[in-house]
Amino acid sequence: MQKTSFLELAEARRSVRAYKPDAVPEEMLQTVLEAGRLAPSACNKQPWRFIVVRGEAVRRALGAAYAREWFWKAPVVLAVCILPKEAWTRSYDGKNYAMADGALAMDHMMLAAAELGLGTCWIGAFDPAAAHEILGLPDGVEVVGMTPLGFPDVETAPRVRSRRPLGETVMKERWG
Ligand SMILES: Cc1cc2nc3c(=O)[nH]c(=O)nc-3n(C[C@H](O)[C@H](O)[C@H](O)COP(=O)(O)O)c2cc1C
Repeated sequence: MQKTSFLELAEARRSVRAYKPDAVPEEMLQTVLEAGRLAPSACNKQPWRFIVVRGEAVRRALGAAYAREWFWKAPVVLAVCILPKEAWTRSYDGKNYAMADGALAMDHMMLAAAELGLGTCWIGAFDPAAAHEILGLPDGVEVVGMTPLGFPDVETAPRVRSRRPLGETVMKERWG
């Protein structure tokens, strides 16, 4: 595999909404999961669990939580779950960081997948109660996001990104 810089990888990653039915090799799946495991978390609490859904029955059921065929028909669906009770909370205001931690794990996995030529797409617009039920989650566990994982069924060449320019994103010294 050609070595890419981090910025090239960040540029190449895109949300993929069409997948080939080809299975994801086990080694690739393990690499993606390992990237999630290595993600940083507040106070290193790692308040996450990753559910790997490969069976068609559960994937099809997840289609009730997010009704897009390209989502549940992908060979793998990864669900990043968080356990807010295990997460670090900021003493000043009680802010719970589980969601931030889960997002970091998800992002690590999405970038690792992109490096392997696999597609992902963070799914946030799912029905949380349905996903909770379908995945058999106990009380106190939430799905922070899901992503299909598989080989993209589209041209994966980097495209022009629609992002706000740095000049409108970065501020100097103070807000404004
Ligand atoms: C927290 C979050 C939730 C998202 N939820 C969805 C979703 O439910 N469905 C979807 O098709 N894309 C979803 N996306 C993908 C975004 O639309 C996408 O990342 C954004 O448009 C930028 O495009 P890119 O990922 O190709 O760079 C989500 C992304 C994030 C970060």
